[in-house]
Amino acid sequence: MTAWINQVFCEDALTGLARIPDASIDLILTDPPYNLGKDYGNASDQQTVDEYLRWTEQWIEAALPKLKPNGSLYIFLTWRFSPEIFVMLKKRMTMMNEIIWDRRVPSMGGSVRSFSSVHDTIGFFVRRKDYYFDLDAVRIPYDAETKKARSRSIFIGAKWLEVGYNPKDLWSVSRLHREHPERADHPTQKPLEIIERMVKASCPPDGVVLDLFMGSGTTAIAAKRNGRNYVGFELNPEYCAIIAERLATADAPQPPPKKKPTPRAKRSSTVNS
Ligand SMILES: C[S@@+](CC[C@H](N)C(=O)[O-])C[C@H]1O[C@@H](n2cnc3c(N)ncnc32)[C@H](O)[C@@H]1O
Repeated sequence: MTAWINQVFCEDALTGLARIPDASIDLILTDPPYNLGKDYGNASDQQTVDEYLRWTEQWIEAALPKLKPNGSLYIFLTWRFSPEIFVMLKKRMTMMNEIIWDRRVPSMGGSVRSFSSVHDTIGFFVRRKDYYFDLDAVRIPYDAETKKARSRSIFIGAKWLEVGYNPKDLWSVSRLHREHPERADHPTQKPLEIIERMVKASCPPDGVVLDLFMGSGTTAIAAKRNGRNYVGFELNPEYCAIIAERLATADAPQPPPKKKPTPRAKRSSTVNS
């Protein structure tokens, strides 16, 4: 087995990318710092706007040659910088979707001078028309009530009713509150449900997913749980230890949330922005 496969290297992604051969990655799925001032134990989220955009363009330039010609890229962003970063990517790739992740933030107070921001912006990009995409792997089943309501003869044999519907580009998935059983000690951990959808749709079985900014390792866990390979980087050694711990139990089924979060827990839960 190749030395770099199924490894998360505790090092700077820009240095570490040299380990990966060109055109070897099926999917780049990455969640970089949003530059909103978070403390990841490094200064990556606390750059000036110019520095941040220059650095972003630098890692995009370094990462894209690693992608296979029929590969894809998903990038998590905030509305604050997605316009500039989408333009960078559109110069190099074809944009297929802007996906809105509705974090299902409860209605409690919030800004009084603008509308409260409750979503993250995700860009989905490809290189060529023959990119890998398996919609059937991520269709959402219709519930029994809907199926029953569509039981008239004109719907009989309708494939879409049996196989479920396209998840569309608005994904309402609760962020991970403090009591969530999936939650690790990382301030901007993403839910497996979202990452697994991207992995299943855009990386073939046995393919390789690259995440330059692993955080708590959600991309690696999602790949491992779904029969894909992974590779990636994380600067903070404490997060690297969390990744190793999560990977060791990655195959175990994820328990559902036990109880409703308290209002206090809801307030203190964090995702980027
Ligand atoms: C938004 S978080 C990723 C969260 C992750 N998706 C999860 O679910 O846990 C971004 C991560 O990138 C890491 N990071 C920042 N700059 C980096 C760099 N140059 N190389 C590798 N990791 C870096 C930060 O330490 C942080 O943990």
